[in-house]
Amino acid sequence: MLLRETILQSLKAQKNAWVSGATLSHELNVSRTTVWKQMQQLLAAGYAIEASTKKGYRLTSEVDRLSPEEVRSGLASAEFGRWNYFYYPETDSTNARARDLAAQGYPEGTVVVAERQTAGRGRRGRRWYSPANKGIYLSIILRPKLPLKDIARISLVAAVAVAETLETELQLPARIKWPNDLFIGHKKIAGILAEAATDMDSIEYIVVGIGLNFNHTLQDFPDELQSCATSVLLEDPAQRRRVNCLQNLLLQLEEHYAQLLNGDFNRILVKARRLSMVIAKEVQFDSLNSTIAGKAIDIDDNGFLLVRDPSGVIHSMMSGEITRIS
Ligand code: BTN
Repeated sequence: MLLRETILQSLKAQKNAWVSGATLSHELNVSRTTVWKQMQQLLAAGYAIEASTKKGYRLTSEVDRLSPEEVRSGLASAEFGRWNYFYYPETDSTNARARDLAAQGYPEGTVVVAERQTAGRGRRGRRWYSPANKGIYLSIILRPKLPLKDIARISLVAAVAVAETLETELQLPARIKWPNDLFIGHKKIAGILAEAATDMDSIEYIVVGIGLNFNHTLQDFPDELQSCATSVLLEDPAQRRRVNCLQNLLLQLEEHYAQLLNGDFNRILVKARRLSMVIAKEVQFDSLNSTIAGKAIDIDDNGFLLVRDPSGVIHSMMSGEITRIS
């Protein structure tokens, strides 16, 4: 554990009471100057720490930062986010950062989190609006030893993990708009962008990027999104802390991904069908070079959406976007 994490834990354990610099330096076997420098770093990271030459230091209020100090204490996942956790107060895109790290050889389970993205990327070349300290902007590196055709399954694994986190951690009835948008009612609360680097017929790595609107008020969304986007806060004003949600999300991702690797995709599929907001609905489906209208009837064993058109032909959709549901 980083020295800064240990100091933060000591401050938290005192619950607003003072901890002297001498005690910290003695317990941690470092100089008082080192303790002071670590405090400066915590202040710079947004922690409200009071300092007194006589009494020492105390934490005056909790902050909801997604820093490694906050996330790692209380993280239940065995690998995801535990060893390699890259945290940026601001970056262009966590997916871009994670792809760089993956190309450098960083292992599966490496996580990149930002408080703000200046060029957050959405699917189909869109932008993911990422205001500071409001959302969860997360990317994770996966290196599955699976054939290329399983990419759609991985997207579905991520969507189920996000939906289950919203259900279990926040009691929000999230539904999956295949393949990987998350909705509450008719408003989007989260999106997933999976970007893969592939060899001839195998996956070198996949970066799964997740954007979850958390503490956004309506004004935090641009005008054009205000009628079709929502956030955890807007759905339930009592919810505030992103850190618990991120911890749970990493655990859910790890567990569902393990099911996929263990050949138990069927369990994911059962959940994806239950959580789907499109199965049994009339949909319009846009893929790269065609538009199909029909009834969404199922998600198949590959993770593809099956759409039956009015003439009875069943189309197996591998990727694309549902542009209308009725
Ligand atoms: C979509 O719904 O279009 C997908 C949005 C994915 C956004 C996330 S935020 C974290 C990660 N970094 C990015 O640049 N994009 C993804």
